[in-house]
Amino acid sequence: MSVVVVASMKGGVGKTTTTANLAFALSRLGRPVLVVDLDPQNSLFLHFGLDGSNRDGLAVAALDGRPWHSPALMSDSGVLCLPYGLLRGEQVARFERLLNENPQALGEALRAACAAEPEAIVLIDTPPGPSPYLKAAFECADLALLVLLADGGSYATIPAMEAWVDEWHSQRPGLRAAYVLNQTDASSPLARDVAEVLRQRLAHRLLPVGIHRDEAIGEALAVQQSVIEYDPHCRASLDFRQLAAAVARECP
Ligand SMILES: Nc1ncnc2c1ncn2[C@@H]1O[C@H](COP(=O)(O)OP(=O)(O)O)[C@@H](O)[C@H]1O
Ligand SMILES: [Mg+2]
Repeated sequence: MSVVVVASMKGGVGKTTTTANLAFALSRLGRPVLVVDLDPQNSLFLHFGLDGSNRDGLAVAALDGRPWHSPALMSDSGVLCLPYGLLRGEQVARFERLLNENPQALGEALRAACAAEPEAIVLIDTPPGPSPYLKAAFECADLALLVLLADGGSYATIPAMEAWVDEWHSQRPGLRAAYVLNQTDASSPLARDVAEVLRQRLAHRLLPVGIHRDEAIGEALAVQQSVIEYDPHCRASLDFRQLAAAVARECP
């Protein structure tokens, strides 16, 4: 089992979009994939066409004392999906306390979920910024994908993300980190300039595969599909297939 955590300091940069579409692209490469929503927004399931009336999920199971992975559902696209579940505010705080007290529990649950699939890739979606979720995910991750937009706001968050990587790398030297640039846009001079500055600043840590800004991404979500199912030939589909090939190489 290889565990990939998708993280960023800012919201709205494309973590959930990247997690969902990368999961689909990896499963098309023939890898068993488990996608885990570790964000109380509980929106990842939408990308997989799963029933929104199902309120169950990992956080709900944890509070009920059931195995955390027990609510995982196989989506039509062949990706096993473990939603966060629907919790009220005070229950979210209880689950976060549970994670804080026992951050290893997440890794144990993922190992139980993948016991029969040693080649599985687990992708974990997280909320923005430092949180008990990120701590638990870093605790069991092999690879951190840090998502950035080509704008000044994302650029400003790099020192804080570098500090995360250094902190976790000192605790778990095996943890690798790579930055992914999302919503690249060759027609925007500002986006092109910022992308160039990021390439210089991050050097080899910035993956050579970025994800273009593409309307098809929003259209695919509106019909609860991955962009690759929705329009296999669009720019973003090509990008996610290339990103999946790069991630698969990192996850033997
Ligand atoms: N490459 C892209 N091209 C066009 N729209 C995108 C792209 N990436 C993300 N989006 C849109 O941006 C919004 C935020 O993306 P989301 O994945 O929810 O961000 P996060 O999980 O980081 O908060 C969504 O409406 C999504 O459809
Ligand atoms: Mg999100």
